[in-house]
Amino acid sequence: MNDRLEQEHQAFEAALAAVEDEAGLYRLQVAYLGKKGSITGLSKQMGGLSPDARKSLGAELNRVKAAIEAAIEGRRTALSDAARARDLARIEDLTMPPVQPPLGTLHPLTLARRALCDTFRRMGFDVAEGPHVEHGAYNFDALNIQADHPARDMQDTFFVAGTPGTPRADAELVLRTHTSPVQIRTMLDSRRSPPIRIIAPGTVFRVDDDATHSPMFHQIEGLYVDRGVTMADLKATLLQFTAAFFGRALQIRLRPSYFPFVEPGAECDMQCPFCSRFSGTCGVCKGSGWIELGGSGMVHPAVFESVGLDPEVYSGWAFGFGIDRMAMLMYGIPDLRLLFDGDVRFLRGFAS
Ligand code: PHE
Repeated sequence: MNDRLEQEHQAFEAALAAVEDEAGLYRLQVAYLGKKGSITGLSKQMGGLSPDARKSLGAELNRVKAAIEAAIEGRRTALSDAARARDLARIEDLTMPPVQPPLGTLHPLTLARRALCDTFRRMGFDVAEGPHVEHGAYNFDALNIQADHPARDMQDTFFVAGTPGTPRADAELVLRTHTSPVQIRTMLDSRRSPPIRIIAPGTVFRVDDDATHSPMFHQIEGLYVDRGVTMADLKATLLQFTAAFFGRALQIRLRPSYFPFVEPGAECDMQCPFCSRFSGTCGVCKGSGWIELGGSGMVHPAVFESVGLDPEVYSGWAFGFGIDRMAMLMYGIPDLRLLFDGDVRFLRGFAS
């Protein structure tokens, strides 16, 4: 019996050495000291021994049991100390970058407007601005648009206050129908005097709503006033602009046209920048080879008079181009309404 006890003790020591965690230690404890454990089993066999043998084995059993218990306790403490040391030694990575909130993107019209302004700024033009709600006097009268002109009709113009067509300066307030009133504001500005070189981008409004017209759209106005300015300056400036903007010289075509605030007036077209890129019939210019930019011409003497500049001394040119169509050309946008729907699935495509 004593030999078996010694064997069990040695087997326990070997098994203890292999224990790696608290769970393993607990299984070992149950295997030796539990109700059905091997040491407990040996003590149950003591009943069949002689009193002397029982006495000596009992003492041995108690000694081995105490040794096993002490070894298990010692090991348990060592395991939990090691776990605690590991826990303390753990280094948290506090350098993880924060979660980035999603960033918005610039609207294609904003991108187009900025690109246009950058190009004209490099050519010596200032960027000027005017209000969306404009005096009828600036939107119409000072631009030589008479009270009975069809542009002043309720069909075309959003009237905000006043009686449509009244010639009194402040009586009539409109949503500006074009960026041309910024010409008036610029020439009236006492801080400016010729030479004046400005471009004025912005939103304009007309009572118009179908597949190719929005009641709200965008223009960029150009104005150059100095002594001796001619239409050749207009054409040269536009040629220089297309070269700078599209990276190569593109022809400019001026077709006679009528606007009350210019004389002579012209519709202005630009050679299609896509035709050489696409083979066959160009879908952008519909095969005509030209893209309409908008109106232009020499500032009318009546406009100079309305802002107190002498038309005998000064001359100048102006243009007003649509920029929605230009943005559509730049980015290959097929439908005008995509620009104004505010659909983020479309707008996300312009992440810069
Ligand atoms: N304001 C005109 C329009 O909106 C365009 C234009 C501007 C024409 C300047 C000539 C000169 O149609």
